[in-house]
Formats: sequence, C-alpha cells, structure tokens
Amino acid sequence: MYKEEAAREHARLAALIRAHDVRYYQQDAPTISDADYDALRAELLALETTFPELATADSPSRQVGAAAAEGFGKVTHTLPMLSLANGFTQEDIDEFLTRVRRFLELPEHAPVTTVAEPKIDGLSFSARFEHGKLITAATRGDGMVGEDITANLRTLRHFPHHLTHAPEILELRGEVFMRKEDFAALNAARAAAGEPLFANPRNAAAGSLRQLDPAITAARNLSYFIYGWGEMSTEIAATHYDVILQLGRLGFTVNPAMRRCTSREEIFAAYAELGSQRAALAYDIDGMVIKIDRLDYQRRLGQVARAPRWALAWKFPAEQAETTIEAIDIQVGRTGALTPVARLTPVNVGGVMVSNATLHNEDEIARKDIRVGDRVVIQRAGDVIPQVVRVCASDAPRALAFHFPDHCPVCGSAAVREAGEAVRRCTGGLICSAQAKERLRHFVSRNALDIEGLGDKQIEAFYTDGFIHTPRDIFTLEARDFASLTKLKHREGWGEKSASNLFRAIENARRTTLARFLYALGIRHIGEETAKLLARHYGDAAHLFAGLEAAGDKASEAYQHLLAIDGIGEKVAAALIDFAAEPHNRQVVKELLEEVELAPEAAVASDSSLAGKRVVFTGTLEKMGRKEAKALAESLGANVTGSVSTKTDYVIAGAEAGSKLREAEALGVNVLSEDEWLAMIGHASA
Ligand code: IVH
Repeated sequence: MYKEEAAREHARLAALIRAHDVRYYQQDAPTISDADYDALRAELLALETTFPELATADSPSRQVGAAAAEGFGKVTHTLPMLSLANGFTQEDIDEFLTRVRRFLELPEHAPVTTVAEPKIDGLSFSARFEHGKLITAATRGDGMVGEDITANLRTLRHFPHHLTHAPEILELRGEVFMRKEDFAALNAARAAAGEPLFANPRNAAAGSLRQLDPAITAARNLSYFIYGWGEMSTEIAATHYDVILQLGRLGFTVNPAMRRCTSREEIFAAYAELGSQRAALAYDIDGMVIKIDRLDYQRRLGQVARAPRWALAWKFPAEQAETTIEAIDIQVGRTGALTPVARLTPVNVGGVMVSNATLHNEDEIARKDIRVGDRVVIQRAGDVIPQVVRVCASDAPRALAFHFPDHCPVCGSAAVREAGEAVRRCTGGLICSAQAKERLRHFVSRNALDIEGLGDKQIEAFYTDGFIHTPRDIFTLEARDFASLTKLKHREGWGEKSASNLFRAIENARRTTLARFLYALGIRHIGEETAKLLARHYGDAAHLFAGLEAAGDKASEAYQHLLAIDGIGEKVAAALIDFAAEPHNRQVVKELLEEVELAPEAAVASDSSLAGKRVVFTGTLEKMGRKEAKALAESLGANVTGSVSTKTDYVIAGAEAGSKLREAEALGVNVLSEDEWLAMIGHASA
C-alpha cells in the first residue's frame, strides 16, 4: 500500500473509531459489536506499525475512550486511567510473556508469576480516599479527565465510604456492572412500562451510573469489583494479588475468581476454566485479564501509549452472530401477555446453538423495524433468552412491516393494550387454553408445588386429552382417571410405571407450605419472595384469605394492613385485592385448599438480629442438621440462600467449609462459626 492510500485509510478508520467511541462511551448506545470494534482498532494499529508517522498524538491508538460528557462535573485523574492491550490466542499470551521477560532481562524460561482475573464487561471508575474518607469518584472519560460520579457511587451497596487502617491517599480503580438477573429484571420492568430497553447489562450499568440524579442510580441494582489502584501513599503489599486481598479486607468487593498463575499452562487452564463458567457467572465478562504479579516488575515495565506493558486482556470470542428471521410467533403467557418471539435459522453464538430470540413487545419490533426474512445480529446477554440487537442493512427487498395481532392467536379473544402499558394482553382469561396451560405449568413448577412427572410435554398432552384443565384437576386425576391412565397407554412413552410415579408425586405435593401455595396461584406481582413474606406474616391460609375477602376496596382495613407489611407495596396489595375480589378465584382457592395440607408457617420475630438478613450455610454443622439450621434461620426472618455474593450478610461455616468460605473471605462477608451464630441468635445449645 502506498503512503497516500495508507493515510486516507488511516483517517477513515480513525474517524470511524472516534464515532463509535462517542456512541459507546458517551451515549451508552453502541451500534457495532465489541469484536467488530476490536477489528477496526487492530486495522488501525497494523497501519501504524507499517507507517509509524501515522501514529500522531491524536490518533485513537493513543487515546482511551471519549471525552467526558456535558452535564457532569469534570475530574482530572491524578494518574491516568489506562486501557488494556488485547490478545486473542495462546500465541498472543506467549508473546506477551516473552516481551515481559525481555524487557526485564530475565532468562528465556524464567518463571514469572501472573494473576488471572475475569475481565468484567461494565464501566471503569476511580474512587479517591483521603485519610479514609471518600473524596471523589469518576468515570474513565478519556483516561485523563472523567465525569464526577461521586454522589452516584455512594449509592452502591457494599461500597465503604469510610476506611480505617487505610493508606492516607488511596485511589481505587474498579468496574461497575449490572448482574445478569438485575439486568433482566430492569428490562422486564422497562418493557412493562413501555420504556426503551437496554441492549445489554453493560449499557444498563452505564446508563444507571451516569445519571445526573443519583436517586436513579440508587434505584438500580449496581455491583462493582475493585481490580486495581492509581495513587496509593503507602504500598500495602508487594504483589498485585496481595494488594487486592488487602483491599478486600478493607471492606471492598474484590473478585473471588482471581487466580495466581506460575506458568503459561496455568494461564491457559485458568482461561479454559473461566470460559466454561462464563455462561453460568452472575455477570457478563468479555475475557480474562492477565497481570504481572510483582509490583516492582510492574513499575519497571511501565506503559506504552494507552496501555500498561504488565497486563493483557485475553478476549473471549464474540457472543454475537448474524442469522435470518424465519418467522415471528406470538406466545401467550400465564397472565395473557402476548410476547413476540423470533424463530431464527439456527446459529452458533459463543458455543451455544440459538434458534429463538425474544422480541420483548410490539414497540421493540417497531423501534428496531424487525421483519420476517431480515438478516439480524443476535446476542446472548444478561438473560438466557437471546435477543435481536439490530437488523443488518441490505439492498434486498423486504417483507412488509410486522403487524402485531390485536386478537389472541390461541383463543381469538381481543388482545388489548392498556394505557401506559407496553404489553398487549389476551382478554380470554378463563377460556384461553394457552393461559390455562401456562398456569398449570407454573402451578407444578419447581418453586411452586414441584410436581415431578408433569413436565411441559405431559401438561400439553393431559390438557389436549382432557385429563387436566385446572390445577384442581391434578388432585382428582387419580380418582377420576386411574383406569384410563394406567391400563390404556396414554400416548407414547407413557405406561403404568409413569402413572404410578405421577400419582405418588401428586400425593407428595399435597403437603406443602403456604408460601409455595401462594406462589403457585400465579397472582400477578406475587413472586417467591413476596409469597414467603406474606406467608410468614399471615401464618395460615385462612387468615390471609379471610382478610382479603373482607377487603373489597382499597380503602379497607385489610388493604392498609397489607401495606403496613414491610416489603409489600401498593402494586402487590392491589394485585391481591383484585385477585380476591373475583368470585371465581375465591372458589378456586377454596377448592384447592380442600386438596392440600399446608404446613404451619413459623411466626417470624421481626425484631430478631437475623430479620431480613441474607445467610449462607456451608460446611458440616455439628449441633444440628443443615435443614434444621435453615428452618431456624428462616423462622428468625433470615433469607437462606445457596451461594455467596456481595449481598450476603453472614456466612455460617461449619467443619470443612470450602469454596463458599473462601468466597466469603474474598468478598469481605461476615463469617461466623457455628457456635458464634448460635450465640448470636441466643440459641440454648451455644
Ligand atoms: S485492569 C491499567 N482488570 O477493561 C490496567 N481492567 O479494556 C487497567 N476491566 O478500562 C485495567 N475487568 O474497564 C483491569 N479485572 C480487570 C478488568 C478490567 C474489566 C476493564 C476496565 C478497563 C478495560 C480495558
């Protein structure tokens, strides 16, 4: 390539990258995938390697991000916030290690300890503490000047504002992100309210943090990890790994997945392990960061252009792909909501074959102008259901714009969209078979009555064949249809054994709890947590439903009583009252209560020290069984969960506690021994 041609190409690439930087960093609305963006940058770098004179000071290769946006105060970073060089293959890692050894004049195969940690797909921030007090927090901006987000950062959970035993000046660097489940919940709420959706958790995190009103940030569930530091007046350890652990002890959340590696093979193994965990992680990552562990080495290595020589981001393959929309189907949910689903030509996205993508609601289809036959970019992000990012531009003729049905495709009833709602709902309530089947599915699902043997396929078959139309039919099935279900073969793969297993599972399901029963009813806005809260508060079904029947209108005592429960808001209270106001619902509940036997709910002492706390048990307990301990904690109002996160309040570690204990320590979660927790709750045997 000639020099003039190279210069033109360089200018074109630079302009393109700058435009994408503004969309990504300032508007939180990227229009190309990270992989495509990385490819543009790689092209630019290749040109600059051949023609070094093109690498002017204002080239995007020398800059990080985009200038701070208007509206926020500006913060000049005392030490610049750098970016990372990227690697994609094992060779890139070997080259990185070779470069490091050469630079440090170490022998060719000298051991170099590195730290491998997940590369979180969020947005980076810097937080400055002076004399233990949080002074300022800022986004990266262009690396030199960022936006002042001090007030916003203060709203993050588990982010300490005051430190004891910390260096006088401590500037921390980390990543703010949104967990996949928080992202899914936020988008679901936005879809229901007809608000535009965030494309992925990263954009949701950015949009939530970069708010001029910190109250909005506070209302969103944001998380963070500290992965580094800028200025630090006294060095608190000699290696990256140990400094991060120290920061964890100061109260900051650091990533428990951080690993020390002493060879290239260990780095490769860490990458493979992280890759295999990627889909199951609670948050999005886009690679693994490798850092030289020794801080004296880091100092000697220094930086080149916009990135340190002592670190490398080993990126994962993109989780986006292109495919064709073959059809747009409408699914009808339990509450009648019509949800459009794109049927796709199957395509591999980051190792998973994808053939369906959610289109959320009719506004989303219109906004993205998605039509049958279009080539589209899809991505797996946040929720497990893949989504359509955008339609690929093309000159080919297109199908007509998608017409969203105004009647239920299953029962033909009118589908209406209420003012202020983004969702269209089938009004066929009791006659709509789609809604009925979804209600049954929910009723028997794992966290509801948990009836094994009644999977999607069985429900479909039993419904179609007329055996089960309502939840109550499940309990009368054996008495009514014993003969036909055991003697006659009911559809393929069904036999006597299946029937007796199913009858046994149904019998077992008769003994359940009020919380599960309430949740199983599928009342709008009554999720598992709310059901538990109500169950604990009312204790038994008679109590709860008697109050509701009497409630009638919203001014009633029962309604006020509901609102007075900590954690119950107007939406839930109104949903319950509306449910109970419908005579048919009352009849269904009455009949079901004749079939099931609800274990009494232990009353909760709301003044206990465990009330509202998230607790995890791990290891072997000696004074009582795990089930007993869980029940005891729950009776004291605790929320017992299975995994440790930044939201965990206490980890109670018995003998031989393993990874959960280590996670708790890394996250700075309070760890109690069995005796300590028994003493805390004033249990006699402590
Ligand atoms: S270290 C000087 N560690 O990746 C080194 N960065 O592409 C600064 N990131 O700007 C970065 N997880 O926003 C580091 N564990 C991690 C990270 C991480 C995510 C982000 C960070 C940085 C970007 C560079």
